[in-house]
Amino acid sequence: MSSKREPGRAGSVDALLYRQTCARFATGITVVTVVDENGHPHGMTVNSFSSVSLHPPLVLVSIDLRNAILGHFLSRQYFAINILAEDQQHLSRRFSSASENRFAGVAWTPGTGGVPLLSGVLAHFECAVEKTFEAGDHSVLVGEVRVAWYREGQPLVYYGSAYRKLDE
Ligand SMILES: Cc1cc2nc3c(=O)[nH]c(=O)nc-3n(C[C@H](O)[C@H](O)[C@H](O)COP(=O)(O)O)c2cc1C
Repeated sequence: MSSKREPGRAGSVDALLYRQTCARFATGITVVTVVDENGHPHGMTVNSFSSVSLHPPLVLVSIDLRNAILGHFLSRQYFAINILAEDQQHLSRRFSSASENRFAGVAWTPGTGGVPLLSGVLAHFECAVEKTFEAGDHSVLVGEVRVAWYREGQPLVYYGSAYRKLDE
């Protein structure tokens, strides 16, 4: 039996069907951030966030192996997960698009180990890297939550490959 996978197919499931089916799962949107060894901030838009464990408090994000920022997450001790508020769609676009400096004009403060905490977010986690492993074409980054913070407000929602707001 061949172990080769057909192009355009994700395992035994058609890749487009897989993506469209995943898009039926409503998520929030986060910007995951890190500082490099020179103190420069890096960040990317991520909706693969999930809570993993309560004791200890663990969370995960999954990052494409082709992503330039991945090396920073794999080589640093701390990272942050910023959960965007409903009026921060521009940050989701900014941190998912090619840009010389994604942080230009973006307000943030340094958290644990200098990790960028974006201003105006709904919540954030400051995490220590607990473990990383490759799964398919992504790297899974598991973090132990060292600081958790939230405020009241409305989240930015992603559903059906589009930005949404919660209907109350
Ligand atoms: C709503 C949304 C969610 C995303 N979620 C993820 C994700 O969970 N993992 C990932 O690797 N890329 C995700 N991306 C894509 C990355 O943000 C994008 O590929 C990355 O910022 C490109 O960075 P680079 O140009 O520095 O490689 C998402 C993009 C959007 C718009």
